[in-house]
Amino acid sequence: MADWLAALDRRAELRARAGLTRTLRPRAADDAVVDLAGNDYLGLATHPEVTAAAAEALSAYGLGATGSRLVRGSTDAHHALEDDLAGWLGVDRALVFSSGYLANLAAVRGLTQPRTLLVSDAHNHASLIDGCRISGAETLVTPHADVAAVAAALAAAPGRPAVVVTESVFSVDGDLAPLAELHAVARRHGALLLVDDAHALGVTGPAGAGGVAAAGLAGAPDVVVTATLSKALGGAGGVVAGPAEFVRHLVETGRTFIFDTAPPPAVVAGVRAAVRLARDGDALRAELADRVAAAVRRLGAAGLSVSAPDGAVISVTAPGPQEATAWAAACREHGVAVGCFRPPSTPDSRSRLRLTVSAGVDRADFDRALDVIVECAP
Ligand SMILES: Cc1ncc(COP(=O)(O)O)c(C=O)c1O
Repeated sequence: MADWLAALDRRAELRARAGLTRTLRPRAADDAVVDLAGNDYLGLATHPEVTAAAAEALSAYGLGATGSRLVRGSTDAHHALEDDLAGWLGVDRALVFSSGYLANLAAVRGLTQPRTLLVSDAHNHASLIDGCRISGAETLVTPHADVAAVAAALAAAPGRPAVVVTESVFSVDGDLAPLAELHAVARRHGALLLVDDAHALGVTGPAGAGGVAAAGLAGAPDVVVTATLSKALGGAGGVVAGPAEFVRHLVETGRTFIFDTAPPPAVVAGVRAAVRLARDGDALRAELADRVAAAVRRLGAAGLSVSAPDGAVISVTAPGPQEATAWAAACREHGVAVGCFRPPSTPDSRSRLRLTVSAGVDRADFDRALDVIVECAP
């Protein structure tokens, strides 16, 4: 075998010994598993109004956008979604990308000038971390949710442009960043605040407008919000939302906007229908909150170590990576899909199950799934 392939085999072997093998499992269209692993928090991915809007745009525009919007033209579907997102989030303008990952790369890089200091939370998602890396800016990683550490980092860089980078509801443990405090500190030092609202959009905040809106920061001139359209909105794509000047800057210079094919019009139209439903979705959010509380109670009563979630992401500690893998596999055998997070996908080397609660799952199935998780615990 060629040397480089043998080297890859050795690395796979090392991962296997550490319990860190990742494998793809089949998923059928009529998959009957109870889904506590996906991010379809409001059950909108399969909502008939969402799929009908997508189907209509699919027959009008065809399968793909066929090019970047600057090259191929910008459809009404894209503009309508951006206007709706901007209105919902309470910002000047919004710009959609073909994924949340690419939106984050563009946002971080777009906020960076020569000498910028990026102050990034230790639990930030890989896409924010990669954004910091490709921006080429000096990046200081501060301990998780540590406002004093952020303040100290900014105080130590007087006169330099700076950006505080955080998620709102964190993707691994589901806790909420102290957004109002971070904003106050950033403002005091003339820094900007970039918030990835991926796990909060549709789930928290007034009319589901997310963590930034919940913190009273919607439309602040020194705040930029990103989010994915693939979680509570059930579709695909990402968004950067903020001042009109920043959006113009991204249209003209954002590499992951300019050099990437636009999200398909059918997906964009489906997401727009999902935005409408999410805005009007207070009843769904109440059901979601009730399920999250029920899960924390049930798992905690069984002696499991459960996070205190602020959104719909619940983390349950596993003794180690092998045990986490075996636990998730046992749940799956009993018809329950759960997330299995192990290093290096965890910020603190702890392995855990990640449960993403959805209001779209049948309630009796959801309650049964909690029993399965408890019964399969190591
Ligand atoms: C916090 C966070 N930001 C960004 C992303 C990336 O979004 P997308 O899947 O749309 O690329 C994810 C995960 O998917 C995420 O959890």
